[in-house]
Amino acid sequence: MDLIKQIKLDLSHSLSSSRFKHIEGVALMAKELATTYGACPEKAELAGWLHDIAKEYKAKQLLDEAERFKLNLDPVDELSPHLLHARVGAQIAKEKYSIIDTEVLSAMEQHTLGKPSMNILEQILFVADAIEPTRKAEWADPIRNKLKSNGLNVAIVEACKNTIHEIITKGHFLHPLTVETYNFYLNETIEGKI
Ligand SMILES: [Fe+2]
Ligand SMILES: [Fe+2]
Repeated sequence: MDLIKQIKLDLSHSLSSSRFKHIEGVALMAKELATTYGACPEKAELAGWLHDIAKEYKAKQLLDEAERFKLNLDPVDELSPHLLHARVGAQIAKEKYSIIDTEVLSAMEQHTLGKPSMNILEQILFVADAIEPTRKAEWADPIRNKLKSNGLNVAIVEACKNTIHEIITKGHFLHPLTVETYNFYLNETIEGKI
């Protein structure tokens, strides 16, 4: 069985059907964006299928796994352990499926918080996660529209704006990397740089 078939089968047994649909949407969207923006479609699809592999882990499991994998934690990671699903997921992909491609692994790691100066695969997975077809229109349409009219950098700013607004509205902790990602890509989109 090829790797993606095996991953799909495993995910269909371990995750809720809505999560599976989201992941499938991200994988197909990432593949499509990779074709459009000149990244490797196979790597984008693989990163998409794997990106939320640890999304349904409980907080304690994420913290335990972060310790086992010796991840450096920001205080906000400890206050909001669900944020760790991205970095823990990359470690699980390495361990369970022997993924060694650093581009695939780093795209998985950055898909939730982003970071300044992401490579093309990291940008694609970050945006695909925000706009795949099962995302609600109210959340995703402004990002989809920015992507269509202005490209990836502006779409990343819009996705960060949505996330920051939602986090503040819900009274959750804001991770410094989300702010750094927003600031970096906002600066990238000022006139003359797009
Ligand atoms: Fe995620
Ligand atoms: Fe996701």
